[in-house]
Amino acid sequence: MDIRPIGVFDSGLGGLTCVKRLMELMPGEDIIYLGDTGRVPYGGRSRETIIKYARQDIDFLLRHDIKAVVAACGTVSTNGLEEIAGDYPIPVFGVADAAAEAAVSATKNGKIGLIGTKASIRSTAYDEKLLRLMPEVQIHKTACPLFVPLVEEGRTGEDDPVLSLVAEQYLADLRDAGVDTLILGCTHYPLIAGTVGRIMGPRVTLIDPGAQAAAKLRRELYKLGGLADREKGAYSYFVTDSAEDFARTASLFLGFRIEGSVKRVSLEERQ
Ligand code: DGL
Repeated sequence: MDIRPIGVFDSGLGGLTCVKRLMELMPGEDIIYLGDTGRVPYGGRSRETIIKYARQDIDFLLRHDIKAVVAACGTVSTNGLEEIAGDYPIPVFGVADAAAEAAVSATKNGKIGLIGTKASIRSTAYDEKLLRLMPEVQIHKTACPLFVPLVEEGRTGEDDPVLSLVAEQYLADLRDAGVDTLILGCTHYPLIAGTVGRIMGPRVTLIDPGAQAAAKLRRELYKLGGLADREKGAYSYFVTDSAEDFARTASLFLGFRIEGSVKRVSLEERQ
């Protein structure tokens, strides 16, 4: 048993899709969440910058005596996380392995779609993982850079007209390609799964990487004897820009109010 918290980070709200699943699967765990909202989005940045930000995020979480880190960010998970993970004294998980495994289990026709930020789509990380698991897989990829700002603006309603228009443009080729499984390769995208699902149609399985990573983390911690064996964990949230804005949108998504537990921090100073 290990009652130290689990550290989770993302550039903004997206990583909460992983946190929500962690809370459901492991209610006894303490969770420390960092949303680097002062620098969101990460997805249009260079690999070097993404690695630099990821290191700062992990260093911040490590100051809270955590037992594991989840990079609940598709962009970080596909841009250097595996290179830097070994530099830390605790396990560092991304979301791409779990998502690739789930996609390969779900597909029936071997045609898998991947949507993500520009940086995730530019990277070949998902291609390599999917091809290793299923050599005959056909992968169809599209970058959807406007989705993250729309989610951060709270435009997540299934019939939101702006979101619907943008999503229709981004997803048309994937729908025409006949993919039967679509990896929502950015952890912000499950927040707009209603719109994406409506456009792709009911026969396409949507894969939520944050939720898959949460389930994988549970399995790993169980193997290591590292689960916290108690009733209810505590949650704290840190952001690098307005705590109020984050708390408002995050509360809506999580389904309970987190106003009192969000603190604004600077990643440059020691907390
Ligand atoms: N939620 C993130 C991802 O999974 C970050 C998106 C961004 O900051 O561009 O890629």
